[in-house]
Amino acid sequence: MMTQLLPATEENIRLGGQLIARGQLVGFPTETVYGLGANALDEKAVRGIFAAKGRPADNPLIVHVAHASQADDLCHVTPLGRKLMDAFWPGPLTLLMPKKPIIPDVTCAGLASVGVRCPDHPVALRLIRAAGVPVAAPSANTSGKPSPTRARHVYEDMQNRIPLILDGGDCQVGVESTVLDITGDVPVILRPGKVTREEIAQIAGDCRVADSVMRPLREGEHAPSPGMKHRHYAPEGKMTIVQGKDEEKVVQRLKDMYDANENACILCHSRHLHAFEGRMVRDLGDSPESTAQVLFAALRDMNDLKVRRILCQGWDTGGVGLAVMNRMARAAAFDIVEV
Ligand code: TXA
Ligand code: MG
Repeated sequence: MMTQLLPATEENIRLGGQLIARGQLVGFPTETVYGLGANALDEKAVRGIFAAKGRPADNPLIVHVAHASQADDLCHVTPLGRKLMDAFWPGPLTLLMPKKPIIPDVTCAGLASVGVRCPDHPVALRLIRAAGVPVAAPSANTSGKPSPTRARHVYEDMQNRIPLILDGGDCQVGVESTVLDITGDVPVILRPGKVTREEIAQIAGDCRVADSVMRPLREGEHAPSPGMKHRHYAPEGKMTIVQGKDEEKVVQRLKDMYDANENACILCHSRHLHAFEGRMVRDLGDSPESTAQVLFAALRDMNDLKVRRILCQGWDTGGVGLAVMNRMARAAAFDIVEV
């Protein structure tokens, strides 16, 4: 199948909507990462998503809607769910709620809940409206690779597998949505994202973070969110995170590790770039937010450049730092050095 990579014009979005309505797959931008969309109510189309990504069938998909009112068709929305939608939709928050039978079991990997999200991106919203159906969409990467934040990344992973990719430019947030389970008494973050625990607690009164967010799953442990048990974001080179309060020490350790390895690259905060002159280095920006925007693209670059040793400066886990550190830690297989 020939893959067309087209600018997200009105006409091309309409074409994308028609393809989805006919059971095909379309790559499209959201504010977080690019998604691989299909009709969430069409079992065969949804199976096509799993096949194109090489995704394990036990990992459920998020269903995207163009408006909060569309969620009522798909799941049982509680008063808390309503409040969170009012506060954060459209936006990077996925809510897990008890699913209605209209959604085929394949979409939710047989679970009783469905993740629903209304993305804050004009192209995504227009595409969902044009399709006229709720759109199931995981990140548009090959399973295991970093999520795509540029249309080019989608093309690299999905060429010849899907008919159309809509290019809407670079994603603003850069890490995937916060996944929040609101089926219990207290909301629980299963995957941290741009919408933080602190922000959710302000609306919900309370909010917990699943304790598996910042550690590897134990042997035989049940994954709260199936996506967390599979190896994620893994670059081909070996990655280590270096962190600590004393930034001079962090910089020194990064230098020492760099000099002890061949084919290494340092990923650091902008203000330390000058310290690594003469060494191979990439800029992660000067805040967790700016690191979130560039992290996945940087990890893909490491593969393209055949870097064997990736030495990455970490962030504190407050606010969006938790989402960034969660992705970095998984990419590094939890190899974190505290100095
Ligand atoms: O920002 C995003 O969420 C992007 C864009 C495209 O919207 N989508 C995305 O989808 O990241 P995906 O499939 O790559 O990640 C969805 C995560 C997985 O970890 C999955 O296990 C979890 O959400 N998830 C989805 N439905 C779930 C459910 N019913 N119960 C538990 N976890 C669920
Ligand atoms: Mg994904």
